[in-house]
Amino acid sequence: MKVLVDRFSRRIDYLRLAVTDRCNLRCIYCMPPEGVPHLDHAEILTYEEILRFLRVALRAGIGKVRLTGGEPLVRRDVEELVRGIASLRPRLDISLTTNGTLLAKKAESLAAAGLKRVNVSIDSLHPETYRRLTRGGDLATALEGVEAALEAGLDPVKINVVTLKHLNDEVEGFLDLVYRLPVHVRFIEYMSPCGAVDASYFVSNRVIRARLLRHGAMEEAPSPLGAGPARYYRLPGARGMVGFISPVSSHFCPECNRLRLTAEGRMKPCLFSTEEVDVRGILRGGKDDRETEEEIYRAILTALDKKPYDHGKLESFTKTNMSRIGG
Ligand code: GTP
Ligand code: 5AD
Ligand code: SF4
Repeated sequence: MKVLVDRFSRRIDYLRLAVTDRCNLRCIYCMPPEGVPHLDHAEILTYEEILRFLRVALRAGIGKVRLTGGEPLVRRDVEELVRGIASLRPRLDISLTTNGTLLAKKAESLAAAGLKRVNVSIDSLHPETYRRLTRGGDLATALEGVEAALEAGLDPVKINVVTLKHLNDEVEGFLDLVYRLPVHVRFIEYMSPCGAVDASYFVSNRVIRARLLRHGAMEEAPSPLGAGPARYYRLPGARGMVGFISPVSSHFCPECNRLRLTAEGRMKPCLFSTEEVDVRGILRGGKDDRETEEEIYRAILTALDKKPYDHGKLESFTKTNMSRIGG
């Protein structure tokens, strides 16, 4: 079996696949109030094209696939894509990051199609704050999505919380959640260069951790199934764990294991890369199968070669459109 190793000896085996650039929410940290322009339908990779790319990527050394967006569940028949991916390799780690709005409807069919696990963004447990942060979202619907994911046997279920100063100062409420439900709550530091509100909203995870510690001991714990940058802690008696994703206060780039494919078929070496490697042109180039696959493989190696050591000084970046890359 082949492996992908970048210039800094990091093994890259995790592919984040944006299946759409569209989203049915407009979270304030992710996009401006007016939303963002959408790609035309024809610009987006078809499921067939995605699967063709993936076949090569799996042979090249990818072993985990995460569907992101935009909001992946707004793409029609996304279960069909999951089924197609699952058929490429038995027991492949297939996961999905969602805002949860359509999860209650789709959790069961996604699990049946071969989805293993899910990460759900819920930034507040107060309906009004949730509505404000998502610009109109309904908290109860997202929480129903979480319940449905648990019932469908998706495991683990993780909750993503981007913390924003004065907007969702409510870490204690999320503590209650991990006592009540077998879910893992991860606090994510706001990356202001890609965000739509200014840097003054940033809260370090050191502050969040200190706040949680006031409520009792936390013991460092191994990660539940997953391969992201979160660090986890167990709380005595809790059903889930809390985790911290700290892209700003603690550089996790040295352990980076991922490549990204955008909805329009460009490989992104790093979340913050301005350089992208086009794959759509290869997929639509009309060459025979063998040649196309060879070119895709070379494109993967090019993206790998362009992976930077880290994201450098985040402050020096121009806006990255997170809604298109899916974090
Ligand atoms: P698992 O550990 O496999 O469950 O995945 P994950 O935590 O990487 O996936 P998820 O999509 O839930 O990511 C959570 C958040 O972490 C993202 O929304 C981003 O805010 C952040 N994140 C994920 N990957 C990266 C990365 O490569 N670089 C940076 N700077 N942040 C990332
Ligand atoms: N900083 C940190 N995380 C972000 N996300 C989106 N924008 C940002 C940002 N500026 C995260 C969301 C979600 C994922 C898709 O991306 O919380 O978990
Ligand atoms: Fe990897 Fe870039 Fe994310 Fe750092 S910012 S962890 S190098 S993708």
